[in-house]
Amino acid sequence: MQNNTFSGLFVGQKIVELSKIDSTNNYLKKELSKSAPLSEGTVILADHQYAGRGQINNIWEAEAGKNLTFSILLCPSFLAPEKQFILNKAISIAINDVLSGIIGSGVKIKWPNDIYVNDSKLGGILIENVIQGKKWKYAIVGIGLNINQINFPDHLNNATSLQKIMNKEYDKRTLLTELCNAIGHWYSELRSLGYDNVRIEYFKRLYRSDGEYLFRINETDQIGKIKNVTEQGLLEIEILGNPRTFGFKEVEFVIQA
Ligand code: BTN
Repeated sequence: MQNNTFSGLFVGQKIVELSKIDSTNNYLKKELSKSAPLSEGTVILADHQYAGRGQINNIWEAEAGKNLTFSILLCPSFLAPEKQFILNKAISIAINDVLSGIIGSGVKIKWPNDIYVNDSKLGGILIENVIQGKKWKYAIVGIGLNINQINFPDHLNNATSLQKIMNKEYDKRTLLTELCNAIGHWYSELRSLGYDNVRIEYFKRLYRSDGEYLFRINETDQIGKIKNVTEQGLLEIEILGNPRTFGFKEVEFVIQA
């Protein structure tokens, strides 16, 4: 008998579809506090999120009915909680690969949690963890991808979508199935083979990891070269020959028009 949990096919075997909700991450979190537990790999999918959340208290805005906004329940008890960013890496690789299969080159993982196509943002990831004692009990993996939205508000001038790039509409359910399979695959890779391959494959797909670029640090632009993203999620950049590490809000990529 095939073991679906091991093969990765368990992600998306159960999909809870909601027409309208504040945030699929919030919904999943509430479900987990109830007595009947959901099974690992359950997906909460919303057609319309009216209070979607991004990293560091940002809002995630997505036009109703046009995009993919969903959360996946994972139970990564086999991973060390102090190295939690490895899960972000595995999920990012999976999304990057599905989108690269459609768009071709130009799809990149932008540290810490974005999916970029060239210099525009197509999606983002928000992973929220429940740690119990020394064990990683649940990971709520929230993913927002712009699929068929064409118009974005002015303040999201850096946003793009699959339809904007490819000039055609996409079937969201087909994409969701592909994403679930890819996420299941890379999650199983972590479980069966450990961290090394995920580290290597993440770096290959990392935005601006291929040379020297401008970074804004304390309001000053400096040239640096990305060396690594640590398992704690810190970005290591070599600046003037010295390695330095930065947290989420401590460094900005300078994107020139
Ligand atoms: C970011 O770019 O800051 C992360 C965005 C994550 C958005 C997704 S949409 C589904 C899930 N529910 C939320 O409220 N947020 C995540």
